[in-house]
Amino acid sequence: MSKEKFIKGLNEDLAAELGTVIRYNYQSGKSFRLMGKELRDMFAAEITDEMGHARFLTDVIIDLGGEPATTPKDFDKPEKIKDMLELDLKMEEDDVKNYLQHSKEAEDLGLIDLKMKLEEMAADEAGHARELRRLLKGV
Ligand SMILES: [Fe+2]
Ligand SMILES: [Fe+2]
Repeated sequence: MSKEKFIKGLNEDLAAELGTVIRYNYQSGKSFRLMGKELRDMFAAEITDEMGHARFLTDVIIDLGGEPATTPKDFDKPEKIKDMLELDLKMEEDDVKNYLQHSKEAEDLGLIDLKMKLEEMAADEAGHARELRRLLKGV
């Protein structure tokens, strides 16, 4: 694992975080009816988490000598709430996998503090996935 390849992976994580901030902001605006309030509260809380992840990754990439991504990853816009939440769940689960993979790579590179922080971020995303699974039981 080269440092360049590791930075490339972190930049993919960063683009995904930026995309998630935009996706959750968009979906919050599209949340109506009975579940709308609960969805909007969840999105508001998670936007804060994802923005924190994006800011951390930006600082780390610069510290490692890379150029941080500024283009968000694109996303689908399903109309139905169930489809929307299923998309979010899949993307949160992908984020968990990516952070666990990149935490292993950080360990291989001797970046132990970063390994631990990436594991913590994987746990944050797993928490988001858990919340989405709970909401999906209600739709
Ligand atoms: Fe995140
Ligand atoms: Fe998340």
